[in-house]
Amino acid sequence: MSSVNTAIQLITREQAASNLAAASTCSPALARGPWDYDLAEALAGAPAYGPGASAADVAPASSPRQGQLPEEYKLASDAELDVRIRAAKAALGDRAVVLGHFYQRDEVVEYADFVGDSFQLANAALTRPDAEAIIFCGVHFMAETADILSRPDQAVILPNLAAGCSMADMADIDSVTECWEQLAEVFGTEPDADGRVPVIPVTYMNSSAALKGFCGEHGGIVCTSSNAATVLEWAFERGQRVLFFPDQHLGRNTAKAMGVPLEQMPMWNPRKDLGGNDEQALLDSRVILWHGFCSVHKRFNVGQIEKARAEFPGVQVIVHPECPMEVVDAADSAGSTDFIKKAIAAATEPTVFAIGTEINMVNRLAAEYPQHTIFCLDPVICPCSTMYRIHPGYLAWVLEALVRGEVLNRITVDEDVAAPAKVALERMLAARP
Ligand code: 13P
Ligand code: SF4
Repeated sequence: MSSVNTAIQLITREQAASNLAAASTCSPALARGPWDYDLAEALAGAPAYGPGASAADVAPASSPRQGQLPEEYKLASDAELDVRIRAAKAALGDRAVVLGHFYQRDEVVEYADFVGDSFQLANAALTRPDAEAIIFCGVHFMAETADILSRPDQAVILPNLAAGCSMADMADIDSVTECWEQLAEVFGTEPDADGRVPVIPVTYMNSSAALKGFCGEHGGIVCTSSNAATVLEWAFERGQRVLFFPDQHLGRNTAKAMGVPLEQMPMWNPRKDLGGNDEQALLDSRVILWHGFCSVHKRFNVGQIEKARAEFPGVQVIVHPECPMEVVDAADSAGSTDFIKKAIAAATEPTVFAIGTEINMVNRLAAEYPQHTIFCLDPVICPCSTMYRIHPGYLAWVLEALVRGEVLNRITVDEDVAAPAKVALERMLAARP
């Protein structure tokens, strides 16, 4: 199977081979080098996340900005970049560790020393206290987390600073603080007879360090999609209800599976007073869901599942819990990227799997397990466009700089945010999936 990048290149050049003839991509612009967007941003003065799934998302002004990638890396062929990356890695040896999220493109994952989901990569950063540099091929919030958890003298490097997460940007510290103050007016701050406080803040790993710090300061915790249920249990032991941000779908799907009725999960719209709720709805709530979502997982729908079941009787449908509730309900199972990987690895008989998560990961699983038929529920090739901004050119650039003793694109979280964020993260790391 060709890589997602190759498929997009073929589609856009209208040279699709027969097995790609019916394929389409959500954004032919993805075929261009990600540096085109750095340039477009610089010229237009209007920051945007660019192509694909997050096309409509405008990056917040506070997002780190990627400068121009030197021409030599833009012009280098794939083969040349391969030689240069391997040489730089060999020169650095144990001084540098490369981490790659499951959603990274194949052309980057092949250089990763660890590949995993966000929970595993947070742990992987901890297992290499000897490495001077952690090159995080993922998105900005993951690199921030690695910086918070790593030793102060370890440099965490994000090869392309424009690799953000549009969902993470849907909740910012000012809106969450405003929400918290409004909730305090409704609930007060006194614990009930069982010692449970009115509300516990829970942030998904896909959030800024500032929000993790907020949770650390207010008795809250971080979760990932692999430990969300354990984390919610932790929170319900300590609080009467949970404020869950930024992903409404992970919050709703997890709480629903734990038996929380939908009527007790009001949505908080940060643009409206009381989040668009009346006081009674908030008083009756168990989980208050922030109005955030993932643009990639929002693309999955029940019709795609029905089509897969009609075409492949017996198909196993597995989706990520960032998918809307109807999709999770219609699937056979739902879980984190690692859950999906393990479910496929555990299948002893040849099986057809229809997967609802990011295409790079699905295609890699299909190549790794040829005994099974594995395909993405979304027929349109639509990678996470921000993850996609980590191109081998950027990896070669930061690695070669390290060899020269230069640290580029270092992600540093200020100590006043990092300290409480670490409290919330360590609570999470203790809550095993
Ligand atoms: P995982 O926590 O499953 O790695 O997912 C991260 C993510 O960004 C999913 O969209
Ligand atoms: Fe963010 Fe969605 Fe991309 Fe995950 S897939 S990094 S949630 S935009």
